[in-house]
Amino acid sequence: MAEPVAVVVRHGVEADWPVFRALIAMCPEAARWADTYPALVAEVEGRVAGFALYRVVAGEGELLNLAVDPGVRRGGIGKALMGALMPLAELWHLEVREGNVAAIGLYQSLGMEVVGRRERYYSDGEAALLFSGPRRSA
Ligand SMILES: CC(C)(COP(=O)(O)OP(=O)(O)OC[C@H]1O[C@@H](n2cnc3c(N)ncnc32)[C@H](O)[C@@H]1OP(=O)(O)O)[C@@H](O)C(=O)NCCC(=O)NCCS
Repeated sequence: MAEPVAVVVRHGVEADWPVFRALIAMCPEAARWADTYPALVAEVEGRVAGFALYRVVAGEGELLNLAVDPGVRRGGIGKALMGALMPLAELWHLEVREGNVAAIGLYQSLGMEVVGRRERYYSDGEAALLFSGPRRSA
């Protein structure tokens, strides 16, 4: 397991999009979306190390993409991004590949739960698990 790293999370801007695309190219498990929606960006020593794309509608959030540079995984960057994201909505929803052990571990560590499954959701035939939670108290 990697050592924890010092992570700064900020809001994404359009100038980040080429970096998002480069990260997605290194992350086959990530969704392909790069150039849209609000984003949070994780920086380590001034370099973008990960990002989350999301949208919030009527108080509920949907995570559209999440990726961390493979070279700095398991250092708390995914958790820092999700920790900054969670307060932005009362409840979060997302889909994840059924075999994506790392992402599933991350979402479960945040108290999210499987609420459904979509057979052959991805173009390669893999099923998606639907996660929701954790509901914040008002
Ligand atoms: C999923 C992902 C974002 C996690 O990022 P990360 O920075 O490595 O995650 P963190 O270091 O913050 O890990 C937080 C927790 O998630 C879980 N986790 C992370 N990686 C894991 C793995 N390989 N196996 C099992 N659990 C894992 C653990 O509970 C971990 O806590 P711990 O290290 O104290 O045990 C990263 O692996 C990634 O970018 N994967 C490719 C893209 C992807 O799958 N995106 C999600 C699409 S839905």
